[in-house]
Amino acid sequence: MLVTTTNRVPDIDLVTNSLKSEYGEPADDFALNASVRRLEYAFESLSAVARKRILDIGCGAVTGRGEVEANPRTWAPWLPRAVVALGGEAVGLDTGRAPNEKFEFHRVDLRQPHCLDFLSGESFDGINCSNLFSSPLLQRLGFADVEMRKTLRQSLYESAVKLLKPDGIIIHFDSDFYDW
Ligand SMILES: C[S@@+](CC[C@H](N)C(=O)[O-])C[C@H]1O[C@@H](n2cnc3c(N)ncnc32)[C@H](O)[C@@H]1O
Repeated sequence: MLVTTTNRVPDIDLVTNSLKSEYGEPADDFALNASVRRLEYAFESLSAVARKRILDIGCGAVTGRGEVEANPRTWAPWLPRAVVALGGEAVGLDTGRAPNEKFEFHRVDLRQPHCLDFLSGESFDGINCSNLFSSPLLQRLGFADVEMRKTLRQSLYESAVKLLKPDGIIIHFDSDFYDW
């Protein structure tokens, strides 16, 4: 459902309610709400997301291991879904699976060097990465050590910056900040 085709200027309630009616009510909707709020904050209004091309690194999935398996509706790919609902274009990357979505999804292991190299340079208006480094799955997959996560974050960000258009923005949110 495209919320931009309604007569209302899109606000957080319009977008979250539209996504809930399309994909089902999450058990806990904080990830959904936080994703839409982050888009509004980053682009200064939800209307501004229309026609933007946005990459989401560790976007969430419909089936997967770890937290996705435990809470599939909480950690669903809400941000790319919201981008599409707002008339933008989204590309989502995750190690889980997200079939039948309206955005381009790639199953990618973000621990692998050069894992973003298949994407075209300078092609995104925005790149989101949220709650990846605090992911219990990532930490179980060999990144329990904070120094390893710092190194991974550095290399992912160096690659991500090359994918941004000259005036593109990085949106980063994570609770994995202690000791950084
Ligand atoms: C806590 S969820 C956050 C989802 C979404 N970004 C959000 O903020 O709502 C973390 C996501 O990272 C993914 N993830 C963890 N380790 C990964 C890896 N090595 N490669 C790709 N995705 C990974 C998980 O599958 C999960 O979907």
